[in-house]
Amino acid sequence: MLPNRETAEKELELAGVMNPGPWTKHSVNVGVAARNIGEKAGLDGEKAYILGLLHDIGRRVGVVNIPRHVYEGYRYTMDKGWEEAAKICMTHSYPLMEKEFDKETESVEEARVKEYILGCRCGPYDWLIQLCDSLAADYGFCILEKRFIDVARRYGIWENSVDRWNRTFEIKEYFEDRMGCSIYDVLPDVGRTTLLCPPPWKPPAKG
Ligand SMILES: [Fe+2]
Repeated sequence: MLPNRETAEKELELAGVMNPGPWTKHSVNVGVAARNIGEKAGLDGEKAYILGLLHDIGRRVGVVNIPRHVYEGYRYTMDKGWEEAAKICMTHSYPLMEKEFDKETESVEEARVKEYILGCRCGPYDWLIQLCDSLAADYGFCILEKRFIDVARRYGIWENSVDRWNRTFEIKEYFEDRMGCSIYDVLPDVGRTTLLCPPPWKPPAKG
């Protein structure tokens, strides 16, 4: 089950009031990228858009780490009965799936996410949002290479970062085969926004 577009847009707006930041505009752009790529690849564009809008909804609880926003998003959307969105909340941050969890988990949330991922199989919508998460900044669309650096500047580099990048390029090729064109052909203004370089966002100082 999934909410309709209006409900998903309202959820994201409310979440942006609870935890303001560029993540809400990023989420809208993930939705638009997913709709444009998904439609051209023969998927349901409206569903792709809604899944993109909600993939980071766990950030509604505040500035949190990766497993926590994943788990909070899963819990929140499951409570609403939106299982398809809940699955995307879980899978979007883990393009390598079970291979991302070969170390001890560090928190209760991470352990729950691991358990879910180990029992889960990805499909085209999971791959689509994993890809689009790496194509959408808050200020527009950009090439994968640019987004990988943006994310590395914010979160750092892990042992598996290059494997994650390579997997994302495989997903790009999978969709380009289905589309019969480049993913960049359906991302408005991608050439211009790729060249923009605003400084990384920092949360406002609390005073
Ligand atoms: Fe995201």
